[in-house]
Amino acid sequence: MPTDPFETDKPLIAPSILAADFARLGDEIDDVLAGGADLLHLDVMDGLFVRDISFGTPVVKSVRKYTDAYLDVHVMIDRPEDYAPKLVEAGADGISFHVELADNVRRTLAGLTDAVAETGTNVGVVLNPLTPAEVAFPALDDERVKLVLVMSVVPGKGGQSFMPEVLPKCEQLAKRLRSDQRLEIDGGIDAGTIASARNAGVQWFVAGSSVFGAEDRATAIAELKAQL
Ligand code: DX5
Ligand code: ZN
Repeated sequence: MPTDPFETDKPLIAPSILAADFARLGDEIDDVLAGGADLLHLDVMDGLFVRDISFGTPVVKSVRKYTDAYLDVHVMIDRPEDYAPKLVEAGADGISFHVELADNVRRTLAGLTDAVAETGTNVGVVLNPLTPAEVAFPALDDERVKLVLVMSVVPGKGGQSFMPEVLPKCEQLAKRLRSDQRLEIDGGIDAGTIASARNAGVQWFVAGSSVFGAEDRATAIAELKAQL
């Protein structure tokens, strides 16, 4: 059984494997987990919802076989309703969907929430930097939604600069969360930006390039944690 990150309200570090060396993915995962990572963030991109293509269900499945770590899957695809069941089957522990994904956000999210929550997988909602907090409120009122992920870069690639303008939105969302819900941030998190996110009420911190781009991952994770 993977360690359940919802069991604690301590701040958690979630390295994004997008910045890992995919030819050595197992070693890369071992390295960050031994170095203090609390969960793994997996960015699924289809080249449509965002410009780039990353990886899909076969990689999620292989990672699932390889590790017991909690797999936090961030879905950046055009038709998540077609792929959510496959990602669940592949072994995702949590799946987060963008609230911008459809014209009828409420209906689409409700459908996805039904399908995913039925399997016991945790459901999350993601907001792009310019999307106001209010768009997520109806989803957050759903008892099955456990995570809200605020993008602090425009999604689509790693290595971009943190956008501090999303911090007031984090504060707004943090105030509204139930005790069984968590607030996560994704994009440009490093030792220089993580404290501002923490101060805005963020609990889970996705870090791609600041962890996998470092030669010594344990030191990189320790430097992030030292700021919390
Ligand atoms: C961006 C992805 C992020 C990305 C973060 O679309 O959602 O998870 O990997 O990378 P860094 O930490 O390098 O900004
Ligand atoms: Zn992500």
